[in-house]
Amino acid sequence: MSARFLILCSLILTLLSCREPEIKLSSPSVIPAPQSLQVLPGRFTIDQSTVIRNADDFTHSVNFLKSFLEVETNRSWETKYATENVILFEFDPSITAAEGYTIETNAQQVLLKASTDAGAFYAVQTLIQLLPLELEKSKENHLLHIPAVAIKDEPRFSYRGMHLDVSRHLFDVEFIKKYIDAMALLKMNTFHWHLTDDQGWRIEIKRYPKLQEIAAYRDSTLMGHYNDSPRLYDTKKYGGFYTQEEIREVIAFAKARHINIIPEIEMPGHAQAAIAAYPELGCTPEKVNVATEWGVFETIYCPDEETFTFLENVLDEVMELFPSPYIHIGGDEAPKTQWKSSPVAQQVIKENGLKDEYELQSYFIQRIEKYLNSKGRNIIGWDEILEGGLAPNATVMSWRGTTGAVEAAKSGHDVIMTPTSHSYFDYYQSENENEPTAIGGFLALEKVYNFNPIPKELTAEEAKRIIGPQGNLWTEYMTTSDQVEYMAFPRMLAMSEVAWTQAENKNYSSFINRVEYFHQRMEALDINYANHLYEVKGFLNDQQQYKLSTASLGKEIRFTTDGSKPTATSAIYKQAIPFTKNLSINAGVFKEGKLLGKVFKQQLLYHKGVGATITINKEPNKSYPGSGAQGLINGIKGSDSRYGDSEWLGFWGDDIEIEITFKEPILVDEIKLRFYNATGQWVYAPEKYYIFLETKNGMISDLVGLPKNDNTLILSNYNLKRFKGFENKKINSLKFNIPNYGIIPEGKQGAGNKAWTFIDEIIIN
Ligand code: ACM
Repeated sequence: MSARFLILCSLILTLLSCREPEIKLSSPSVIPAPQSLQVLPGRFTIDQSTVIRNADDFTHSVNFLKSFLEVETNRSWETKYATENVILFEFDPSITAAEGYTIETNAQQVLLKASTDAGAFYAVQTLIQLLPLELEKSKENHLLHIPAVAIKDEPRFSYRGMHLDVSRHLFDVEFIKKYIDAMALLKMNTFHWHLTDDQGWRIEIKRYPKLQEIAAYRDSTLMGHYNDSPRLYDTKKYGGFYTQEEIREVIAFAKARHINIIPEIEMPGHAQAAIAAYPELGCTPEKVNVATEWGVFETIYCPDEETFTFLENVLDEVMELFPSPYIHIGGDEAPKTQWKSSPVAQQVIKENGLKDEYELQSYFIQRIEKYLNSKGRNIIGWDEILEGGLAPNATVMSWRGTTGAVEAAKSGHDVIMTPTSHSYFDYYQSENENEPTAIGGFLALEKVYNFNPIPKELTAEEAKRIIGPQGNLWTEYMTTSDQVEYMAFPRMLAMSEVAWTQAENKNYSSFINRVEYFHQRMEALDINYANHLYEVKGFLNDQQQYKLSTASLGKEIRFTTDGSKPTATSAIYKQAIPFTKNLSINAGVFKEGKLLGKVFKQQLLYHKGVGATITINKEPNKSYPGSGAQGLINGIKGSDSRYGDSEWLGFWGDDIEIEITFKEPILVDEIKLRFYNATGQWVYAPEKYYIFLETKNGMISDLVGLPKNDNTLILSNYNLKRFKGFENKKINSLKFNIPNYGIIPEGKQGAGNKAWTFIDEIIIN
């Protein structure tokens, strides 16, 4: 565009509305959904002469909007008195919710009202999302329209958190700011910064230089998956830390976005990096290095005066930096093995009249709490801090399910909800075999979205103790910031709506539509989000029909059943596919003849067990229900590499009995059982099982040993042909008694805990 044309344009811009490309008005698509949003007739148009008016003291929020608009519209914005063509901020004392706001737009103005700067800030975030995406996609001087709306909004929860582990992998300040920016856009207000762990200490502590020299670096890093056998290491030095100056910069950046940063300094476990630097803090004479692989380590701080002095000095510097009213002190996964054999730890137990090592952990946490309370701060700890007695003023972060949350809330403690089942964004988000390697588990977008942070065991009064939810990103398997984004988005969008939007105003279909729209925003923001909206999902219904579905609207599914790739001319899926023979289904989501996502593939094996009746004496664990008992004989095998899919059934510590009854007696040659085996994740195939075959003439029983190896799959092929004279005997029913592996032995991950049994697909030929 020539300069002369530009000048001409700006002269006549207010008279005519032609010169710049005009953008169509889209219907509002805001995440998290406001509590009430009404679209009214008309629109407000931002042009070259639109100004901002700060009628009251919302300087922070006004400046935030101003800088946003200046960058995006490529012009300077004036803050001045105006009654027309104005974005107006107004103080409204009738808005009583601390972070609440209203927006009213019409042809003359955009009126943002709040009673706090935080409220005004969230009004700004909503306004940004009301602006056309083209603004963020290109910096051209568009004419911008905002739909006329009336919005009334306030958050459901006061705590809306996202966590990031920077110990397992470290991310630079620029990325931390990008993460915080995205949180602000989604109205999250707390960043939980996991700064120390076994694999690296990431915060500069001036008094202890070896934390920077030694604890911040590891000699090597595990490559591939923890369950791989043999394990491979890259033998490269890895590490670094944030200087106090960088931390101050990040805190100021977050503060300007109404985000509080809670630092986490882990104790008494997950302390191997610190102990590698200062061995005198440990409980054994053995020298340790900064950990090079993942998991839980026995290295633990010794509960002596030297350790408490060290921790208090560290926390002094932490408090000097972080204004947060909360300091997170970890408390999770602290094996007591070393304390059991340490004379120092045993002496502390004796001197303080403690019952055992659990009470010693409680003593440890309570001492730290007392120190932090004396400085005007409160502690947060993972739910293990309940063991041996909860520190009087502690807030509990409930991660191992919700039992800890219920106990803490009932005893009058505040609780933050981060159960693995709904909040662990390091879990797989798709069952597609091509997903980047993740720690395990399975947590789909829809499940995050449907999370209700209030456990049903709580009364309305007790429920007030649940201050909010949080999404967690542990980064063992996220080596780059791109991977962090892939795991965080779009699940962070779902969590923002869990945290902000009242349950009655949530709707998954509406959310999915808004996520699809938000894709463009994330592209404009250069966020490497995962897109599973265009994936096909399949499941077998009770009528032995295979159903296909996809999350987003306005597309079609095309499929084949012969293993060939679906194309624009393949059959359109309209009704469930009957499962009466082996099927090799390939399906894809198409729009206007174009395949949008990845091809979904599913083999269905029509074996003799399909359609039989099955019962199990125990319910699978709530986190690993698979497809229920019937899923064990539905012709679909669980993944060979992931136990968190919709086929594997997980049982924690239970011995299980499975009974299969056929519609009519059948001849059987072979029975195959499949067990998952991932000892690093506490999953152990059983060592044996009992089988009972019921025929017209009575019962045959047998004890079957299982192969022992490190494979993730342990298979048992039970061949009946070896029984002479059995070939012609028809079987009415089958029973399996499968004893759990038992307690995990010393020296293994999860030692002392019950092992998990995972089973899927009993194939009967
Ligand atoms: C945790 O995931 N260890 C809190």
